[in-house]
Amino acid sequence: MEERRVRGKRSGQEPVWVKSERKQPGKGLDLLDIVVAKPYTPAKDLYPEIPLFSSRKSGPKVRAVEQIVQSLRRWSWLEVELDRLCRFDRYTYVHSIHVAVLSLMMAEQLAYKRKDLRDLVLGALLHDVGKERIPLALLNRPGKLTLNEFELVKEHPSLGEEILRLKPLSLSAYLVICQHHERWNGRGYPDGLHGTQIHPFAQIAAVADVYDALTTDRPYRKGLPGRVAYEMVVAGAGTDFSEEVVEAFQEIVVLFSATGL
Ligand SMILES: [Fe+2]
Repeated sequence: MEERRVRGKRSGQEPVWVKSERKQPGKGLDLLDIVVAKPYTPAKDLYPEIPLFSSRKSGPKVRAVEQIVQSLRRWSWLEVELDRLCRFDRYTYVHSIHVAVLSLMMAEQLAYKRKDLRDLVLGALLHDVGKERIPLALLNRPGKLTLNEFELVKEHPSLGEEILRLKPLSLSAYLVICQHHERWNGRGYPDGLHGTQIHPFAQIAAVADVYDALTTDRPYRKGLPGRVAYEMVVAGAGTDFSEEVVEAFQEIVVLFSATGL
């Protein structure tokens, strides 16, 4: 068992340390065990098409995320949040599902426990909820943002924190939302945290977030081919991202890519 520091300087509070237990690597997880037993309800909205990843190979992971969502539907607030996100901007909703699937794959590679995976998926699904408080026209506008506009967009992790403050989220799920734009070298936002000051789940979500964002068509640019985005993520190991997480990312690309690298 290891201890990790999870709260940074912005809160002004003492750092919070959480226990993070990992399974022995190589044991593997039965992902379908991580959900509360409920009838599986297909929801085509949850099927992502992530470049470089084979939908056939990654299907069970997608289904695991879907089942987690189904199991959490007992929290009516979560259903409301996801529905609202989808109505606000379908791209952000689908992106959040992609980030949840990729994060789940990486965390499994990193041998996190199944109960932790659920918190990670939840945080990933809600990581961009704060964007709902930013004008959609600004988020989707072609062309470069002014400095002030970019400063406004950078508030979305804090706005998400505000929106979800009173919800029954675990600390780790919550920190995915607050810290997914922090960077390993301290050059991220909102707090400029670095290295292990960033919660491990936020480190994972950061890689998934960037990979998916790079490969998606946006009104202001065309998505990059999966292989190019892959190289960019790998180039960010040790600067933007944790080397350990990027290694896990490389492993899942080998395991789940359509072509094999
Ligand atoms: Fe974000």
